[in-house]
Amino acid sequence: METLPVAVIGVGRMGGHHVRHYAGLEGADLVAVVDGDEARAASVAQEYGCRAFPSVEALLEGAPEVRAVSVATPTIAHRPAAETLLRAGVACLIEKPLAQSAEDARAISALADEKGVVVAVGHTERFNPVVRAMAEMNLAPRFIETHRVSPMTFRSIDVGVVFDLMIHDLDIVLALANSPLVGVSAVGVNLLGSHEDVCNARLEFENGCVATLTTSRLALKTERKLRVFAADAYVSADYGNRTGIVLTAKDNADRMREIAMRMAAGEDLTGMDWSDVVKARQLELVEEDPLRAELSEFLNAVRGEGKPRVDAHAGCAAVEAAERVVTAMGERLGSGGGPWGGKG
Ligand SMILES: NC(=O)c1ccc[n+]([C@@H]2O[C@H](COP(=O)([O-])OP(=O)(O)OC[C@H]3O[C@@H](n4cnc5c(N)ncnc54)[C@H](O)[C@@H]3O)[C@@H](O)[C@H]2O)c1
Repeated sequence: METLPVAVIGVGRMGGHHVRHYAGLEGADLVAVVDGDEARAASVAQEYGCRAFPSVEALLEGAPEVRAVSVATPTIAHRPAAETLLRAGVACLIEKPLAQSAEDARAISALADEKGVVVAVGHTERFNPVVRAMAEMNLAPRFIETHRVSPMTFRSIDVGVVFDLMIHDLDIVLALANSPLVGVSAVGVNLLGSHEDVCNARLEFENGCVATLTTSRLALKTERKLRVFAADAYVSADYGNRTGIVLTAKDNADRMREIAMRMAAGEDLTGMDWSDVVKARQLELVEEDPLRAELSEFLNAVRGEGKPRVDAHAGCAAVEAAERVVTAMGERLGSGGGPWGGKG
């Protein structure tokens, strides 16, 4: 396997995970880290035995051998960093969301196409074993429901919950629905500032699929669930616990026919326990660390082996959908204020 010289731009919380994985990944040679906070860059570089640079420009000058980088700066800095790197022909795995606006995301995506340089977007949830198992089922969803709620962490409060958290589910829903988005409605609540902390969105797709997404960063518990209703199957997955169940029409056809006949004959079935009637099986999972799998797929794409499953176009589509959700929410709220905090 060809070994690629790699670097990480922005070594805060998320960038630190990228550094750790690259350091142990076969076919990756972590040669440098970049951070505007020079002391931070120096400390991470010392820990991992690589070089430290204060900016992308300094990296390109000091370590021109670098072929691939992760961009894990705050989202606002994704576009300037990506543009400089892509112009220099360096492949980028850009953390989610691809950019802070659809305009910026489209600019990155267009530049990647123009330069023919690999861009992957860090929608790590796509590498969650339950999402991978679901993707392999090739479902034709009619209805998708997602819940992603967690307590306030006081991180990423410069953006609303749609760009911070719902973006994960938007990306997954767009991939599962696999059809143009034709309608978006949304309602939100802001409690702590001017950005929404809770949002419920309804997405309609050209092929008739409908998705409802609920996200909150004000909950008292953590829950991340995905349910997909297709004509021939129902799948319920828990992203957090990495478990899922599948009910297929095929597995249940005989039993449903029997129940339908008994109902038609007027039999009283009120004592019957539905969970004993239906035949469910566990989703079969291949356990692999999602971030490690994401980085590995990215480096393979840089070597010319396959394509990233979340490329710049997919990253851009998620940001465009997020922007439509935020716009729809604003229309509903009128002034943009919330019931408790007003305009915040
Ligand atoms: N995939 C996921 O599940 C996931 C989870 C959390 C965060 N993220 C994303 O990762 C990115 C980083 O988030 P975080 O929580 O690690 O932030 P963070 O604040 O912990 O780290 C960001 C780092 O970037 C540095 N930095 C800022 N501007 C820079 C620049 N122009 N050049 C170089 N370094 C710069 C900062 O000094 C800091 O060390 C965000 O886009 C965020 O949305 C993704």
